[in-house]
Amino acid sequence: MYRRLMEHLTTAVLLLDDELRLSWMNPAAEALLAVSLGRVKGMRLSALVAEDDGMSAVLAKSRDDGHPFTQREVRLSLVTGAAITVDYTVTPLSSEELLVEMEPRDRLLRISREEALLNRQEAIKVLSRGLAHEVKNPLGGIRGAAQLLERDLDDPDLAEFTRIIIEEVDRLRDLVDSMLGPNKLVRHEPLNIHKVLERVRALLIAETPGVQVARDYDPSLPDFPGDEAQMIQAVLNVARNAVEAMAEAGIGQPHLLMRTRARRQFTLGAERHRLVCEVALIDNGPGVPESLQETLFYPMVSGRAEGSGLGLSIAQGILHQHQGLIECESRPGHTEFRLLIPLERRHD
Ligand SMILES: Nc1ncnc2c1ncn2[C@@H]1O[C@H](COP(=O)(O)OP(=O)(O)OP(=O)(O)O)[C@@H](O)[C@H]1O
Ligand SMILES: [Mg+2]
Repeated sequence: MYRRLMEHLTTAVLLLDDELRLSWMNPAAEALLAVSLGRVKGMRLSALVAEDDGMSAVLAKSRDDGHPFTQREVRLSLVTGAAITVDYTVTPLSSEELLVEMEPRDRLLRISREEALLNRQEAIKVLSRGLAHEVKNPLGGIRGAAQLLERDLDDPDLAEFTRIIIEEVDRLRDLVDSMLGPNKLVRHEPLNIHKVLERVRALLIAETPGVQVARDYDPSLPDFPGDEAQMIQAVLNVARNAVEAMAEAGIGQPHLLMRTRARRQFTLGAERHRLVCEVALIDNGPGVPESLQETLFYPMVSGRAEGSGLGLSIAQGILHQHQGLIECESRPGHTEFRLLIPLERRHD
């Protein structure tokens, strides 16, 4: 009963022995420290968090004095190389056992940011759908009128003008259609994310011969209900941007990594999910221009002269239809787009 309780807590809980070796931790702790209990059981905590910001000393003191301690905003370096900020409390249960509770700070910051992102995304969607609809309505009329006019024109030179009208109307309609995003309903068929990635990889290599696309797949990820064609589109839009950005900047050794991970007890927006599929696309290009970082997922936002600025907004729309989202972290030399898809869905 207690173990089950612990396993479902969102707070990371670790149990250490008197040598500060790990004897147990709950799934929230595994997720926070990016390690699995099976692998690290019996290891010293200092081996799991490389730079522990004096944490070991605090734990030892708490053990020796028998008093609980709380520290805030402690920076920890994980084995993955990532750094996190946590608040933690250590409570000596006995002379042999220490209980450590950890609460991530940056993840909390991120969650509120994600929520803001989701809300903003929703507002943009409503706005652009309304606009697209209004633009599309008169287009049919213009096209029809131009066709009628063309039929009654005797002068072939003039027909050139009606042709331009029709072509431009068609171009505008295509643009508006892609702004509306996929209007097809998402199909919910078992989808294998690695099949999607392999397909995207093949497309990228065909488009840009010589591009390096490495993969690091988590084979434990199960198939999940989703729309394969749309997911390919979403991943492709993100991956293509990376390849384009690297080519444009003339990176010597352009490198794109496709990485999948199963994330347990993960919060997206306001909802916590038992299992989330994370697809990270990481490139070593110049990074997303500072000026675009806030508005990256808005339609019509582009840093490229020939870009329409729709790729990411469409990709984000597709992820939304799968109740997921895309987030981005970027600095020169390391740009990471993460597609996050919850594997068990609400039924709506
Ligand atoms: N991996 C990346 N590295 C650097 N910049 C990026 C990356 N991904 C996206 N960007 C920036 O974000 C902008 C918006 O991307 P988005 O895919 O939405 O539009 P686009 O690529 O300009 O046009 P489209 O995809 O519609 O042809 C890009 O123009 C680029 O400036
Ligand atoms: Mg693009």
